[in-house]
Amino acid sequence: MKSVVIRKHGGPEVLSYEEIPDPVPEKGDVLVKVNYCAVNHLDIWVRNGIAGKTVSFPHILGCDISGTLLEGFGTFKRGDKVVIYPAFDSNIPRVSFGIIGGFGRYKGGYAEIISVPKKNIIKKPNYFSDQEAASINISYLTSWNMIEKSRCKKDDIILIWGANSGVGSAAILLAKAKGLKVITIASDKNKIQFAKKIGADFVIDRNTQDVTAEVLKITNQTGVDVVIDHVGAKTWPISLEVLKVKGKMIACGTTTGGEAMVNIRSFYSKEAQIIGAYLGSKTQLTSLHRFMKLKKIKPVIDSIFELKDARAAHEKMEKSNQFGKILLQVAS
Ligand SMILES: NC(=O)c1ccc[n+]([C@@H]2O[C@H](COP(=O)([O-])OP(=O)(O)OC[C@H]3O[C@@H](n4cnc5c(N)ncnc54)[C@H](OP(=O)(O)O)[C@@H]3O)[C@@H](O)[C@H]2O)c1
Repeated sequence: MKSVVIRKHGGPEVLSYEEIPDPVPEKGDVLVKVNYCAVNHLDIWVRNGIAGKTVSFPHILGCDISGTLLEGFGTFKRGDKVVIYPAFDSNIPRVSFGIIGGFGRYKGGYAEIISVPKKNIIKKPNYFSDQEAASINISYLTSWNMIEKSRCKKDDIILIWGANSGVGSAAILLAKAKGLKVITIASDKNKIQFAKKIGADFVIDRNTQDVTAEVLKITNQTGVDVVIDHVGAKTWPISLEVLKVKGKMIACGTTTGGEAMVNIRSFYSKEAQIIGAYLGSKTQLTSLHRFMKLKKIKPVIDSIFELKDARAAHEKMEKSNQFGKILLQVAS
């Protein structure tokens, strides 16, 4: 089958478009023909490598997949259109689960065929196209989980970093559909325009404005109920600073680094909470599908690359030139 493999960690140049043998399913697994696979920041982490985390080379990236079943099982038939819930049981101490195509034993969706646990298969809702269905399993599911964990209520004010990112754009759409007031952050004119187009109420330009001062101005110095932080070291200090009393910061990412200097006194004196979010459950993914259909939400797709052009897709994401999800078209 055609695939993009990595044989070592490194920059986009380690992504190699090759013909490799088809996967052989292990007990409990099923083969799926991959139609589309979204590119996520996780792919960049795995491609670069993280100290202490392993993959077995050659590895195949890609965790956000829509496809077609190559064999039937249970109530599923060969030829059914499906999406793949990305988490699998892991025995790594103090880590909730592994992610298909991430670190760990499962190869991902940058390949024509993938072998995945049968229990991860979900029927693709007709409401979503193959492309849209492949955009939801990571960024949208994580954003949904973050919003649910925040227990926010209608009219609460939420601050969402990185409006143009996969997670940020998903969180804006979902938060607006839940009736929240959204403040988001962007870094240039086009990204500001994009944020407004997808529904943000207030957009702050982090390159020309003081984010803390602007958020406090918008909230009459009270601060926000919730912050969705996927950016990490550079944004945690601001995220905590702009929380209101008993506010919640939900964190899922470390794009700018995993070690932050924060003002602990300011944090505890307002009895704020920091909550971690890692993906979301399979049940949450199906309830998200229902919610998006009910609210008529479609994921925002930036661009679709052919599988052989995975390098260009990674380069685009690394330059942060995307407005929503970048996809790879795998099936021709
Ligand atoms: N825990 C989980 O289950 C989970 C799930 C999904 C994603 N994540 C993590 O969440 C993060 C986002 O993922 P993604 O796929 O959405 O990534 P992405 O599309 O590549 O987005 C990166 C975003 O970070 C913003 N950014 C970069 N540097 C910044 C800075 N100094 N200040 C403010 N914003 C900055 C960029 O904004 P500009 O374009 O304005 O620079 C861009 O919007 C990644 O770290 C990913 O690993 C975690």
